[in-house]
Amino acid sequence: MDRQRVVDLGEFGDEFHRDPHPVYARLREQGPVHRVRLPGADAGYETWLVVGYEEARAALADPRLAKDGDKIGVTFLDKEMIGKHLLATDPPQHTRLRGLVTRAFTMRRVEQLRPRIQQITDELLDEMLPRGRADLIDSLAYPLPITVICELLGVPDMDRAEFRKMSTEVVAPTDGDTEYEAVTRLGEYLTGLIEDKRCAGPTDDLLSDLIRTTAEDGDRLSPQELRGMAFLLLIAGHETTVNLIGNGVHALLTHPDQLAALRADTSLLDGAVEEMLRFEGPVQSATFRFAAAPLRIGGTAIEQGEHVVIGLTAAQRDGGRYSDPHRFDIRRDTRGHLAFGHGIHYCLGAPLARLEGRIAVGTLLERAPGLALDGSPGEWLPGLLMRGMRSLPVRW
Ligand code: HEM
Repeated sequence: MDRQRVVDLGEFGDEFHRDPHPVYARLREQGPVHRVRLPGADAGYETWLVVGYEEARAALADPRLAKDGDKIGVTFLDKEMIGKHLLATDPPQHTRLRGLVTRAFTMRRVEQLRPRIQQITDELLDEMLPRGRADLIDSLAYPLPITVICELLGVPDMDRAEFRKMSTEVVAPTDGDTEYEAVTRLGEYLTGLIEDKRCAGPTDDLLSDLIRTTAEDGDRLSPQELRGMAFLLLIAGHETTVNLIGNGVHALLTHPDQLAALRADTSLLDGAVEEMLRFEGPVQSATFRFAAAPLRIGGTAIEQGEHVVIGLTAAQRDGGRYSDPHRFDIRRDTRGHLAFGHGIHYCLGAPLARLEGRIAVGTLLERAPGLALDGSPGEWLPGLLMRGMRSLPVRW
């Protein structure tokens, strides 16, 4: 069981991006951990892939699976161009960064956003609904979270179209060159933005708060750490939530009984959003980890320095954890789902993402009673990191 045959995920072609579940199901039947060759922009790269629920949950919290590339003498693109951030550090550095950001990004701040999220949703729907048909990604799922995260951080309006192009390329790169260019440009852009904010004096956005945040012992974020934090919050703050809304609405529209149940009883909304996160979560695999020490996962020996990808999409359809896992059931007990990760890197923005998802889906269903699919969804995102579609045509 130790050195297994390598499964080339690229061999499954585009079908794997459209629907990876049959491949994951076959892999799970054979065992919780597999040696795979990655598809897409990383084609050919060999890594371990964890597909079993229990193993994935344990791996997410295992301190032997580290994130700081310095430990294996590797510098990753974002760290080199942007700066150290939460998903590129281990304790004690991670503990320090997380402590500083949670001082500024509080539950109170998220709750204060509620009326504004509702207002943005209403405005987007005011524009979309008279048209009778639309691409839901373009009209609601994308603009809502990007507007929210840009306002939260204090990113000016005019830069958003440009920012969208760069950021999608960072999470689902078409190839290594475009990814490099996107990360470089985003780094330069953020340096300028932070400099402007420093010069302009304090405002009440999160980035200005992060510039000023100081711990009791006087500790603060360095300019490089600030850039890393802004990068991560901006990217993680919207590339994910767009897929919660897109994948979630898609699941509802392809399961008319569940849609009808939700329309009949809107108190099911919170549970429905959790099931959307379990059934077709926005993040297909957790971010890069490697073995800082030799370890075994589900009986497989992982050598020091080896790369491990933890498959969230795969784990959340594990029949050992969720009965009838391929059934979309908005009333199911989804506790323990891994859509936001687990352990010390558990998603910092989960409360904000849930708030946006509930407001967007709830308001859409209320205001578009005849909502239905209008053809097939567009291309699914390439790569193993994200799970989402580029377009979702709907009518009402
Ligand atoms: C539905 C939407 C979202 C999903 C599914 C999601 C998912 C995740 C996952 C799976 C991780 C852990 C990655 C890993 O362990 O490798 C994570 C971490 C993180 N997320 Fe989210 N996220 C979402 C929305 C957001 C939002 C709105 C923000 C910010 C406003 C955000 C900020 C972060 C940050 C900063 C981390 C790193 C935390 C750390 O390393 O300590 N996320 N997210």
